[in-house]
Amino acid sequence: MADNVKAIKKKDVKPGMYIRGYGKGSFLDPQVEVGRFIESFEDIEKYLPDDTEQVEILTDKFLDLPGKKEVKSKRTADTAARDLAEALPAARKVHDEAMCYVKKMISDIRTGKSIEVAAAESIVDQIIENVSVNKSALLTLSFLKNYDEYTYTHCINVNLYSVLLGKDIGLDRATLQQLGIAALFHDVGKGRISNKVLNKPGKLTDDEYEIMKTHSLLGLKVLSSVKGMRKEVLRGVVEHHERFNGTGYPRSLEGEGIHPFGRMIAISDVYDALTSVRVYKKAMTASKTLSLMYKWKGTDFDPAYFNRFVMIMGIYPPGTFVQLEDKRFALVLETNDDAPQKPKVKVLFDKKMRPVRSECIDLNSYGMEGQGMKVLCQTDPSELGIDMKRLAGFLT
Ligand SMILES: [Fe+2]
Repeated sequence: MADNVKAIKKKDVKPGMYIRGYGKGSFLDPQVEVGRFIESFEDIEKYLPDDTEQVEILTDKFLDLPGKKEVKSKRTADTAARDLAEALPAARKVHDEAMCYVKKMISDIRTGKSIEVAAAESIVDQIIENVSVNKSALLTLSFLKNYDEYTYTHCINVNLYSVLLGKDIGLDRATLQQLGIAALFHDVGKGRISNKVLNKPGKLTDDEYEIMKTHSLLGLKVLSSVKGMRKEVLRGVVEHHERFNGTGYPRSLEGEGIHPFGRMIAISDVYDALTSVRVYKKAMTASKTLSLMYKWKGTDFDPAYFNRFVMIMGIYPPGTFVQLEDKRFALVLETNDDAPQKPKVKVLFDKKMRPVRSECIDLNSYGMEGQGMKVLCQTDPSELGIDMKRLAGFLT
């Protein structure tokens, strides 16, 4: 450990300290980079998960807080828009390739063919590379989804959210890839469920629900026979419906008895399902989804992973559609870490949903005196009659 690095307990962290990271460096408690000053007691809760034990600080950096003014992002909304526009073509290419792969994979399972693992590894690698360059681009595409493609977009989105979570908690590249594979394959067992049950538009009967629940074990069965499939991938797949308090299926596993992949995929799976439109339900907005899922933290979801997930996605993730305080409608370009309620956005429509000359604004510093402007509400663009794919076109 370098001379200027000191390991301390979370309870000893104080505002003003510079946090290099936390965690002991084991698989279950990986070292996670933080790289920022803690400016308040709220920051301690915001940047360090509940179960953090060890924190590394830099002893030669300390913030003089009393005279400190609020720091606002120096990165402009125009820069964010330009970076996103530049990153979107590559992200779209990866997304399109992932869609092709998933369509073929689902068809192969239905027809009893074997799954192509090497191709899945290549897709997951590309997704990891892509989010390392620009997280916003693939996230944007994940929110601009069409409901009729849910079966496919769900596999890709659960993969994307799980990769972002795994990356954030500091998984090494090889483990991250295996997590991505498990997330991509998490519902393969549904390929062995009859269409009558799988695509039933209404509520399932108790018997049908029991049939549906077998998809975790069916997924395990399908993937166990695939050459080269890793044990942790199988656990991620079969345990993605286990719940932290032991009320899940198929084995009612509990807490850390559930493989970390299963605990991470469970969060991504529910988040994507709730934020998606289905034949029988509307999409829930990203912000409402997080507040609903918050109620299940510690019961359904691992609280430490869920806290990290909330920080990654934020209240208004890139690609979500919002109405501003001045009633105009905009697409979120990028979140502002120091002001989650005031992201950078691209204004596209006036209050009557008439297209306007697009304007990129940083809501955190908007207005004559830079006091900012808040988001009024988040809305589902498909409910306003907007073609989701056309909406993505406004960003390039
Ligand atoms: Fe599932």
